[in-house]
Amino acid sequence: MRKGILSLLAVGVLATGGLTACGDDDKASDPGTGSNTKKAKIGVILPDSKSSARWETADRKYLEQAFKTAGVDYDIQNAQNDKAAFQTIAEQMITGGVNVLMIVNLDSGTGKAVLDKAKSAGVATIDYDRLTLGGSAAYYVSFDNVAVGKLQGEGLVKCLTDAKATKPVIAELNGSQTDNNATLFKQGYDGVLKAKYDSGEYVKGPDQWVAEWDNTTAGTTFEQMLTSTPNIAGVLAANDGLGNAAINILKKQKLNGKVPVTGQDATVQGLQNILNGDQCMTVYKAVKQEADAAAKLAIGLAKGEKGATSQKVTDPEGKREVDAVLLTPKSITKDNVKDVIDDGYVTVAELCTGDFAAKCATAGIK
Ligand code: BGC
Repeated sequence: MRKGILSLLAVGVLATGGLTACGDDDKASDPGTGSNTKKAKIGVILPDSKSSARWETADRKYLEQAFKTAGVDYDIQNAQNDKAAFQTIAEQMITGGVNVLMIVNLDSGTGKAVLDKAKSAGVATIDYDRLTLGGSAAYYVSFDNVAVGKLQGEGLVKCLTDAKATKPVIAELNGSQTDNNATLFKQGYDGVLKAKYDSGEYVKGPDQWVAEWDNTTAGTTFEQMLTSTPNIAGVLAANDGLGNAAINILKKQKLNGKVPVTGQDATVQGLQNILNGDQCMTVYKAVKQEADAAAKLAIGLAKGEKGATSQKVTDPEGKREVDAVLLTPKSITKDNVKDVIDDGYVTVAELCTGDFAAKCATAGIK
């Protein structure tokens, strides 16, 4: 019965369209090929498509490219922020014969349940971008997330210094408290800001987590912050979506462009907000590198090999060291938006639409 409901749910997820993409390497599952080498089949579960544009526009694309290039069979699905669907997709992938499962968890608890299920079915696992605390993934592939936060903190300081702000009151819009990355980002930016608060150079204002990185919630939260603390003079927003939510509220008070706002992910929207002067910086994470590194490890695992990684992270909850690949993030301001284009992450056609054409030209983007 339970199984019936689960498969129905799975069909529901599959039927929503655009959520799934399977490799067309049919031979991979063809028992008649006569080959006795273990055939790789990799399952990937992305978290949602609203908390950041990256998952669908970058991660999916680059993972697909990497798997196609390697000629391995794959199945990439998006749980659309639904924890039950996440479990269903995982079960379906395990039953469907993946030998590696790569996940971006929606929280550590539900992520761990999926990893444990995979493990007991003999499926190797990778934590992609977000570490599952207390989990059992063989690898963790991500960016140095404390460094991401540090760039955000330093970026905000630079913008406030350039604006000659005195004793600015800082508001912090953190990511989801159940995302270990959000904790690491905060560790990074608070490391920079705390010294300023302690010295009295900056004033600590409202500081809140945004459940599930939800952009609408971020807008409501920031509106309340600005009502209770109208003199907010700088906003540490943990990603471009949260930053955009704050900018929309600042616009209502004609404070956009006056109050620097940070971001992360170098999304088209974030970069346009930067070109407009409404956002002070974003953090560019070269997702192609992340996807390539994860795909390489996954393919190795699928073939029963153990890949080489040079880093390790500590899972404080599971009290274990996890083999990791941690890439380096880069700070983006108006001065180097061009770097994101040059790297092929965003195209001129996507960024320089309408009024942005002139702004792109000024920023040396063509
Ligand atoms: C990712 C960010 C993303 C956020 C919301 C984090 O775990 O590292 O790139 O903006 O989740 O999806």
